[in-house]
Amino acid sequence: MAKRAKSGIRKSQTAPYKHPEARSLMRPEVGTQAQFKKKKPPKTYRYDSSLSPALDWDAKSPAREQGEHLLKQILDAKSLEEAKTAASKLKSLSKPFLNWAGKAERLSFDVPTLPLFIHERLSTKAIIETLAGHKTDKQEDMFALFGDPQHSITDQVLKAYEYQDNWTNRMVLGDSLVVMNSLLHYEGLGGQVQMIYVDPPYGVKFGSNFQPFVRKRDVSHNDDEDMTREPEMVQAYRDTWELGLHSYLTYLRDRLLLARDLLTPSGSIFVQISDENLHHVREVMDEVFGVENCVSVVTFKKTTTASGRLLSTVGDYLLWYAKDIQRVKFQPVYLEKLPGDAGASQYTWTEMPDGSRRNFGSFEALRAEASATSRVFVHDNITSQRPAQGDDVREFVYEGKSFTPGKGTFKTDRRGLENLAKAKRLMALGDTLRYVRFLDDFPVFPVSNVWDDTVTSGFAAPKLYVVQTNPTVVQRCLLMTTDPGDLVLDPTCGSGTTAYVAEQWGRRWITADTSRVPLALARQRLLTATFPWYDLKDQHRGPAGGFTYKRKQNKKGEEVGGIVPHITLKSIANNEPPAEEVLVDRPEVENGITRVTGPFCVEATIPTPVDWEGDGVEDSGTGTAESHGSFIDRMLEVLRKSPILRLEGNKTVTLKNIRPPAKTLSLSAEALISNGQEKPVAFVFGPENGAVSTKLVENAAREAYAKSYTHLYVVGFAIEAKARETVEYCDAVFNVPATYVQATPDLMMGDLLKNMRSSQIFSVCGQPEVQIKKLKSPSPSPRKGEGVQYQVELLGLDVFDPITMEVAHRSGQDVPAWFLDTDYNDLCFHVSQAFFPRTSAWDNLKKALKGDYEESVWDHLSGTTSAPFEVGEHKQIAVKVIDDRGNELLVVKKLA
Ligand SMILES: C[S@@+](CC[C@H](N)C(=O)[O-])C[C@H]1O[C@@H](n2cnc3c(N)ncnc32)[C@H](O)[C@@H]1O
Repeated sequence: MAKRAKSGIRKSQTAPYKHPEARSLMRPEVGTQAQFKKKKPPKTYRYDSSLSPALDWDAKSPAREQGEHLLKQILDAKSLEEAKTAASKLKSLSKPFLNWAGKAERLSFDVPTLPLFIHERLSTKAIIETLAGHKTDKQEDMFALFGDPQHSITDQVLKAYEYQDNWTNRMVLGDSLVVMNSLLHYEGLGGQVQMIYVDPPYGVKFGSNFQPFVRKRDVSHNDDEDMTREPEMVQAYRDTWELGLHSYLTYLRDRLLLARDLLTPSGSIFVQISDENLHHVREVMDEVFGVENCVSVVTFKKTTTASGRLLSTVGDYLLWYAKDIQRVKFQPVYLEKLPGDAGASQYTWTEMPDGSRRNFGSFEALRAEASATSRVFVHDNITSQRPAQGDDVREFVYEGKSFTPGKGTFKTDRRGLENLAKAKRLMALGDTLRYVRFLDDFPVFPVSNVWDDTVTSGFAAPKLYVVQTNPTVVQRCLLMTTDPGDLVLDPTCGSGTTAYVAEQWGRRWITADTSRVPLALARQRLLTATFPWYDLKDQHRGPAGGFTYKRKQNKKGEEVGGIVPHITLKSIANNEPPAEEVLVDRPEVENGITRVTGPFCVEATIPTPVDWEGDGVEDSGTGTAESHGSFIDRMLEVLRKSPILRLEGNKTVTLKNIRPPAKTLSLSAEALISNGQEKPVAFVFGPENGAVSTKLVENAAREAYAKSYTHLYVVGFAIEAKARETVEYCDAVFNVPATYVQATPDLMMGDLLKNMRSSQIFSVCGQPEVQIKKLKSPSPSPRKGEGVQYQVELLGLDVFDPITMEVAHRSGQDVPAWFLDTDYNDLCFHVSQAFFPRTSAWDNLKKALKGDYEESVWDHLSGTTSAPFEVGEHKQIAVKVIDDRGNELLVVKKLA
């Protein structure tokens, strides 16, 4: 029988942590989007901090309106507490403040309240099980691996945001403001997040028009040819803002305000920032969280490279604020004491086993000459400054010599001094009596607010993302301010460092990013990660029950466990057992279990398209007909300013004469293609906060044909799978060829963003071409359908080129990632197999599982042909390809 570890898990098995006690409100799956009814109005947030340095009752001053609002709050207050809060806000109106353009005019702001739809469910365990060919007993077991509660469509429509489901971790595509608003107002997560880590764009280099932060990064051991096709090469990350610093501060303040609402009363927020805006961001945080709640400003080293004409910058900063500094959760993180280093800078003495003591004078000498059996120590004061009183000891004789405490007092009484002498903890230095403190009395010291061990070394795992944070930085923040099982949020996901660190340490996580490229990277990082299995105190409770920590010594007698003694002068003097400290980052590890990331889902802020105008055309999921109209106007304006569509292979289509079509029912714009032969083309824009629906495509295609346009461009931030298919069939069904054009979600950031380089805004995505092979049944006389296996091959991406009117082909080997759902249920994509062609993305796991699976299993995962699978309940598969720009392209195929 397979050997079982203490956890009850079979040795050499892969297993994730589960969070059996945690719940979250059911979010609907994207397949039910069209039926979703529970819409909510946008939420208005009011600023409540100072806008003017002095109370100013001039009618023109916005402070007056705010002052009156607060006075009313005081008068209407139902409790003294409420009145006090409002009064203190009123008082803060007269405090100095940081002002910027637009701040005074903006007393409040609106955020659309959008539901989050689940688009994808991922589970490393499910992938491994599928590949291993271990047939799970029941279909449900496979769904359980995905953490899929399998709600019916009816339940999803009627009970979304009411039902409590089991917890799964979450990655969300969307603007942080909208995502946080949804967490607050659809899910009621206010006051439930223990720690928030924000690593926003640093807001630097406002002068440049468009600042892609993407550089070539060696993700794995690929050759250069592969590398150029990795998604992080894609220029998708923008850092420039319309009003420079002014927009940046508005952007940050809005987000911090919502973040504060999400924090638990004992919660913490960390904002990572560079020196350029540290001072501004600190002022904004003072305003939002209160000066008194600033816990620390941490300086951390990010590089050792000293360059620049003047002082070189080698560090960044963390601004750490508590929701309430009186209640903040905190556990110190300790570092090992090494003689000469921080925390042990005076330890130059040693004591030999025979009791002789020697001062090496320098750490170099100590390190070079001290023997392995000697104990390093420092001599310390045994007196305090307090003047002697009463029966304090005035004289103590040690080794025949008399010592006095000078102007102060001994730190302990006579009995204590005798105990110290007995324990050989005293030392005469001239006329002074000293206390001997061994380095191993307390072999660690608490980290301070300067972290110089956070430089990513050349030997560490290479960065996935150009602005990736060193995991040590996030880890320290997380360990100091959360317990296992707590909820952590990072609304600036990037390559998912916070999610990764949270997963490693058994915290629950939610992360969001407005850009698809980082989410694609984060998804890959988590899916292929392995972690140590930290022993759980209570298997039934999961990480929420805590990890096991033990006191342990190695052969040399050094403390190597997660509990260390803390011997003090007082404990020896009083003959007490020493205190012990827990090193939160050193839980017991159970060897032999490969821990993988638990199930997580990818969600997005996409609401139901709504037909506001009652004309049969879906407009937008939020706002009003007017707001939809203004969205169309804005898109037209953007298209006019950036009349370029970006195709595969750096080709572009240039448009001219862009304008709204006359008397249109469904179309949003018309234009002439200006490179090549001039041809009139039509545009339909999808909703501002939703996916393009089939109905939208069909209506637009019918009209485009009737009005003799030569081509229809369907522009959207997202598109439903069926609508994507309809676009492909437009030529055959409606006699007008159509192309789906992906708009960058950054456009949703409205007028805060500077106009982006035109070629980055709209891009034409390819359509995946897949082939399904039916494999011969391994059994000689199978019953109908039994034992029949299928295999899917990704042949490549077909991309339509509207200039040449030809379809260009890209090989399947060249896509950064593709996923297969072997039993697609039309509701949400279950990643049953995940492929990262020609990369070593899965190597970690492969190594950890040391030959448990055949080589061919891993070959599949880095190639274009799936592992064999059996037909599922829904008799259809779906293939999702992630292209270089992070776009997701979905095809659904029926199995015969
Ligand atoms: C500096 S990076 C974060 C890097 C991350 N700490 C890591 O380790 O990879 C900032 C991220 O914030 C994202 N971002 C910027 N503005 C955003 C917004 N309004 N909502 C959500 N994400 C945003 C960017 O796309 C980018 O991926």
